[in-house]
Formats: sequence, structure tokens, C-alpha cells
Amino acid sequence: MFNLILFGPPGSGKGTQSQKIIDKYGLKHLSTGDLLRSEIAAETPLGLEAKGFMDRGQLVPDEVVIGMISSALDANPDANGFLFDGFPRTEAQAEALDKLLKLKKTAIHLMLALDVAEPELISRLLNRGKTSGRSDDTNEDVIKARITEYHKKTSAVADYYMKFDKVKHIPGEGTVENIFDSISAEIDKKVK
Ligand code: AP5
Ligand code: MG
Repeated sequence: MFNLILFGPPGSGKGTQSQKIIDKYGLKHLSTGDLLRSEIAAETPLGLEAKGFMDRGQLVPDEVVIGMISSALDANPDANGFLFDGFPRTEAQAEALDKLLKLKKTAIHLMLALDVAEPELISRLLNRGKTSGRSDDTNEDVIKARITEYHKKTSAVADYYMKFDKVKHIPGEGTVENIFDSISAEIDKKVK
């Protein structure tokens, strides 16, 4: 079993690189953003609760996303490992994840943190907003609110895993292929 967190600010390429990682390493992809957008599309009570936070660029309450991840772990008992994308985003989420994995006699093995400068993040997200249909990509104020939320609440999650010596930084600007090569090199050091 190999469990990886792909970490980084909004627009740093977590979703893009996740697709390539799951294809190469056969991990189960768990993206809380994607799970929340499915709940919104299905108009579930959870989706309706989350929508307002997401439209404003704010984090959804911890108990909502922790509950979603707990269900997703239970629903995939035969996975070779998990790729967490966009989770954990607060220290409380990181502590909850450690407990959930411990109950399953496993743990986080590696956190890869994508480093991308803020002007590049904003330009990528505004560009995607032209076609994505994501309400939180169309407005620069909301994009900036997401980045502020990242600095206020999420960047500390890397410090949390740093204490356990589990973090590697990856330069997140350049071609998707070159970034993926750097990611693969770090994963290979751990799985071989
Ligand atoms: P979420 O869906 O996780 O969004 P995000 O973190 O804001 O980031 P993105 O998904 O927009 O970016 P990404 O890093 O995946 O980059 P991508 O590959 O798409 O969260 C959305 C909301 O849900 C949050 O604001 C919050 O409200 C809520 N939420 C989710 N998880 C939560 C949690 N755990 N707790 C509480 N609330 C939660 O790439 C971005 C763009 O750049 C794309 O167009 C892509 O094509 C392009 N691109 C990618 N790589 C490159 C490259 N190398 N060069 C140029 N362009 C590139
Ligand atoms: Mg994403």
C-alpha cells in the first residue's frame, strides 16, 4: 500500500498531475474538490451546504470533507493505495486523516508539494474559467480569496507533515511532462 498527498495552492496542477500519477501507479484518486462538485451536481444536502462556501472561495467545514473521505476510504477496501488531491487542507483534516489511515493499519508515505508563483496561479485559473464552468474560476476576486484561504489555513499542513519528514517540494512551473518526471522520480524513490 502506498498513500500519497499531492499538495499545492489552487491552480498549481494537482488535478492535471493526479491523472498521470493514477495511470502510472494504479492509485485510487480522491479529490475532495471533485467529490464536492459531484454532490453539488446531484443537488444533495451536502452539496447544497458546500456550494456557498465554494462559490465564495472559502473552505468547506472540516467535518463535511472528513466525512466524505472516511466514506471514500471505506468504499475502496481493495485499493493499492490512495492519491489525496486537495485534502487535507487544514491541520484538523491532517490529524483526522492520520487517524482514519491508522484504523486501516496504514499511513501517509509521502507528500509532494507543487510550488507555483501567484501570478501564474491566477493566470492559469482565469484561463481555465473561460471554459471550465467552475463558478470559482470566473472571478479574479474569488480566485484571490482561494489563494488567501490557502495561505491562512492550508500551507500549515505542509509543516505538519514536515515534522514527520514526509514532504518533498516539486517546482510546478514548466511543461506538464517535465513536472511529472520530477514527481515520478520522488515516488520511485519511495516505492522501489
Ligand atoms: P479544489 O477543486 O481542490 O480546487 P483548488 O485547490 O482550488 O485547485 P484547482 O483544482 O483549481 O487546481 P489544481 O491544483 O487541481 O490545478 P489543475 O491541475 O486543475 O477545491 C475547490 C473548492 O472546494 C475549495 O475552494 C473549497 O471550497 C472546496 N474544498 C475542496 N477540498 C476541500 C477540503 N479538503 N477542505 C475544505 N474545502 C475543500 O490546473 C489548473 C489549470 O492550470 C488547468 O487549466 C490546467 O490545464 C493548467 N495547468 C496545469 N499544469 C500546468 C502547467 N504545467 N503549465 C501551464 N498550465 C497548467
Ligand atoms: Mg484540482
